Amino acid sequence: MRIYSAPDYYHASRIAANIISAQVIMKPDCVLGLATGSTPIGAYEQLVKWYEKGDLDFKEVRTVNLDEYCGLDETSDQSYRYFMNHHLFDHINIDKANTHVPSGTAADAEQACADYNEVIRSMHGVDLQLLGIGHNGHIGFNEPGEAFDKETHIVTLSDKTRQANARFWDGDLSQVPTHAITMGIKTVMQARKILLVACGEDKAQIMKDAFTGPITPEVPASVLQLHNDVVLVGDEAALQYLL
Ligand code: GLP
Repeated sequence: MRIYSAPDYYHASRIAANIISAQVIMKPDCVLGLATGSTPIGAYEQLVKWYEKGDLDFKEVRTVNLDEYCGLDETSDQSYRYFMNHHLFDHINIDKANTHVPSGTAADAEQACADYNEVIRSMHGVDLQLLGIGHNGHIGFNEPGEAFDKETHIVTLSDKTRQANARFWDGDLSQVPTHAITMGIKTVMQARKILLVACGEDKAQIMKDAFTGPITPEVPASVLQLHNDVVLVGDEAALQYLL
């Protein structure tokens, strides 16, 4: 496992964007696994800047996102499809038909999960999976206690996750969806390379638990200790126990 520490969020985001850029340059038709949350926003901003400068070309890139809230579609500004369009896809030359986010509004949720697994298989898997980490160690929306052998599935969001994400709804917990559709840990672990980004003092303890503690479903990100190509990028505050 390689760890890159940066003095602050801006520089951590640049390192993350550099790693994603390297993937796109090395394999222009690569499959990027993408993430939402506040952490990757800085990396997406940097990628857009490099695209605008002419340094990056996304026309052949394909993407699969980790997760989506149940009940929200792209018309909701809190949906992850909206997030991806707003922070990245609308600003680069990617073909939107090549971008995939799980459907949070499918009439048949089980079928939507199966369809998403098939999308990933049809692209022969993910080359580089970008991840954030929740305060309880969740990756995507794989909450503590989830089995490690799951592919895309529907989850009930924990109170901790809903409370953490209520900030996107002006703190109104009642507005935060109770369920989500997420790639499973098995799907994440099948990515050929994993890039996890964490910033801020509030992520320090979970980063310690996930990467120096026991591998357990109670800390979903701890499974990444078993992956053979993981890069951790963060600021010094988040990585303080790992350096
Ligand atoms: C959400 C997302 C995760 C993300 C997490 C952390 O729950 N489903 O993919 O890693 O938030 O978010 P943040 O980066 O805002 O701390």
